[in-house]
Amino acid sequence: HNKEQENVLKAFEWLTKLYHHLLRHTKEGKEGYNYLISRGFNDEVIDRFQLGFSPNSKEFIAEFLEKKGFHRQLMVKAGVLTVNDQNQATDRFRGRVIFPIRNHLGKSIGFGGRTISDQEPKYLNSPESDLFRKGSLLYNFDLARASIRKEQEAVLFEGYMDVISAYKAGIQNGIATLGTSITESQAKLLRRYVDTVIICYDADRAGLQASFKAAKLLKNVGCHVKVASMPDNLDPDEYIQLYGAERFKNDVITSSDTYMAFIIRYFRKDYNLKLEGDRIQYVERVLDELALIERPIEREHFLKELANEFELSSKVLDEEIRSRRQKIG
Ligand code: UTP
Ligand code: MN
Ligand code: MN
Ligand code: MN
Ligand code: MN
Repeated sequence: HNKEQENVLKAFEWLTKLYHHLLRHTKEGKEGYNYLISRGFNDEVIDRFQLGFSPNSKEFIAEFLEKKGFHRQLMVKAGVLTVNDQNQATDRFRGRVIFPIRNHLGKSIGFGGRTISDQEPKYLNSPESDLFRKGSLLYNFDLARASIRKEQEAVLFEGYMDVISAYKAGIQNGIATLGTSITESQAKLLRRYVDTVIICYDADRAGLQASFKAAKLLKNVGCHVKVASMPDNLDPDEYIQLYGAERFKNDVITSSDTYMAFIIRYFRKDYNLKLEGDRIQYVERVLDELALIERPIEREHFLKELANEFELSSKVLDEEIRSRRQKIG
């Protein structure tokens, strides 16, 4: 780290404390605090994740940082202040619940802010910088690392809200990408610590598509992949609020699909299996995927299922797999 980054880290440490203090102990922060309570959070998780509140004020943070002696320009560059039309530095996060985003050492390297009214956007994150690269950090990795190592398993969520909700439900090995699907560098980082990753994204269209991408990527870097599924477009946080911690652990996390079972379920939505033509195309597509599976037992298992469901002989399917594998080399 250079001098500038050291300074930014110091400023972010102050800000993390300030936002947290405002949330916990001041009148201004009360609405943020109440919002988090209304979402099922309690003091223990608010403290553990150092959640905070940014007042709905133009230059509360700007003045605080100035008093502490941090250069305005540097704070603009670091993304906690923005310059308005009149060339004044003003607070970037206003009237938002603050989620400090920590690096693997537990130091704040950026912030996420969720509106507690109906401001757009719903979530605002620190802008990209050398210090804060969304594509290479994993939210909560610092706190989850010990549990991830011990379980040899991590649960991957879409966002901090889900990680914290899941923590409250007893899931200590939860981590998240920040809204974007997992990148290769995040996947590789994860692979260094775990065998198994359980993908637990939202059960909406975007989440399903992101799960597919993440499953492929994680598989490619050598992870054992599982994919959780939830009903009715729910996200993990909503599921936990509705059905509770036990059902989340038993019916979602522990019952997650194997990689291949997920892929088969995922492909299915593109076909109308009542139609002859679609049935053939679907089988071909699943075979393409099955041919990539290295473990013969796993291949055999799904091949049998496929043969049964579509009343095809295992012999024919075997030959199809063999020719595909020859092409791959
Ligand atoms: P979602 O849109 O699923 O939000 O984004 P959510 O967490 O379920 O929202 P609420 O609070 O329950 O209504 C999932 C995650 O993606 C990140 C956030 O971390 C969010 O928790 N995200 C989303 C962003 O960083 N920026 C965005 O604009 C949207
Ligand atoms: Mn505290
Ligand atoms: Mn989502
Ligand atoms: Mn969601
Ligand atoms: Mn949600």
